Amino acid sequence: KLDTLILFHSQGISSIGEEAKIIDASLDGSLTNLVMTGEIVGEFGEITHIHTFTKLSVSRVIVIGIGNQDEFDHNKLRELFGITSRYLEKTKAVKVGIVTSSIEIPAFKAQLFGQSVTEGLILGLYKFDKYFSNNSKSTAIKEIQMVAKSTDEIKLMNQGIKQGKIIAESSNLCRDMVNEPANHMSPTNLALIAKQVAKDTNIEVKILDQAEMETLGMSALLGVAKGSCEPPKFIILHYWGNPNNKKDNLGLIGKGITFDTGGISLKPASGMGEMKTDMAGGASVIGAINAIALLKLKINVTVIVPATENMPSGTAQRPGDVVKAMNGKTIEVDNTDAEGRLALADAISYGRSELKLTKIIDVATLTGAMVIALGHTYTGAFSNNQDLLNLVIEAGSNSGELMWQLPLHKDYKEQNKSDIADVKNTGGRPAGSITAAHFIAEFIEDTPWVHLDIAGTARSSQVKGYIPKGASGIPVRTLVNLAIKLSA
Ligand code: BES
Ligand code: MN
Ligand code: ZN
Repeated sequence: KLDTLILFHSQGISSIGEEAKIIDASLDGSLTNLVMTGEIVGEFGEITHIHTFTKLSVSRVIVIGIGNQDEFDHNKLRELFGITSRYLEKTKAVKVGIVTSSIEIPAFKAQLFGQSVTEGLILGLYKFDKYFSNNSKSTAIKEIQMVAKSTDEIKLMNQGIKQGKIIAESSNLCRDMVNEPANHMSPTNLALIAKQVAKDTNIEVKILDQAEMETLGMSALLGVAKGSCEPPKFIILHYWGNPNNKKDNLGLIGKGITFDTGGISLKPASGMGEMKTDMAGGASVIGAINAIALLKLKINVTVIVPATENMPSGTAQRPGDVVKAMNGKTIEVDNTDAEGRLALADAISYGRSELKLTKIIDVATLTGAMVIALGHTYTGAFSNNQDLLNLVIEAGSNSGELMWQLPLHKDYKEQNKSDIADVKNTGGRPAGSITAAHFIAEFIEDTPWVHLDIAGTARSSQVKGYIPKGASGIPVRTLVNLAIKLSA
């Protein structure tokens, strides 16, 4: 009942697998021929389309190159299916079968296989086309079948598929929020989405409005909000997956600047539109808790998203202003464009004092300097706790979301010194990402903490594997993998 069959071929191997041989027989040996003549090489990402012309019940067999077998892993598999998903879509495939055993990778567990293929397909087929008047080009693919060798394998593969679907769809939820233009993704809209997620996953939600933030003394965050007509929202989500141990509470805090003009320290016009991405950290932690709740992980997770616009206006804060964060520290606002750290200062203070978070991961499109340091491939990672950081980096590497540690040497801290307040919100050009991280550390104090600066990785300017153009969904899958690890 399928129309498409997928086979794998590894580079440097001249024979074809057992299942492939059965198919080959029906195709008068054309598979073997293509391998012999070198048309099928097996290079990573190579796609060979064979029309079956009624010789088989499927109308096409697609042979995918996996590259060198020794280097093939689940990250490559996910990427491969990101690439393949768009090819399948182009060929108008509807029902697709994957002959899994045409690759014999002993290291592959059936569960990880199911998960990676599912993630690659769902992430790879993602589109943000809601604003085209004519957006009827939705994918034709309706069904994917995978062949397993035993009932045990079927069970494991199904588990992986289920898990992969939840994780990839949560990543796409994050992408949807980030791709949404800022006129449709105000702090109020972001809070509405958080409420919807809470409703769909049956978790707790609380949205603080401006008056409540004032009462709590969140003047760093409110200072940023002053320039905008859009009211700020302070979003809190709780998932209690380990209710007998409520003291243990992992905090995921995401920067939620729904648009960053720079404020009075106005950004240049060119490329400013990309600053709708400045709530990507917030979107990623909402996407992550969505998956964590749906996966019913045995862990307590709290999400905080301080959401506001950063706009210039007659009521906006000025460079040189001094504000006081919720924890009592005073901040000289040297540059109104360093607004993310101001919003995070209050979110972290609240998470520590009101919610007693035991570990904190913050995610933020914090500094342009991150793009200079690591480009668009690695997310910058900073921490006061090497064990926790190692776990995050490992979770990232298992997700194909690469992270690289940068040093928080105390010398850099000097750059944040202010002449008139406890701390200044800028540290000058040298090591701009590190001084920003040091600023955040002022509010973290001794809580085990990892800071992820996704300024270079939240958005992609090109299609690459399962990453579309636009929002990447990074680091949703890392955060979910971390929660899986911590809950185990
Ligand atoms: N949201 C930006 C950082 C950013 C820049 C993210 C480019 C993605 C791409 C952040 O609020 C910002 O403007 N940071 C300033 C800090 C500076 C004023 C100390 C920057 O990086 O220029
Ligand atoms: Mn800014
Ligand atoms: Zn910003």
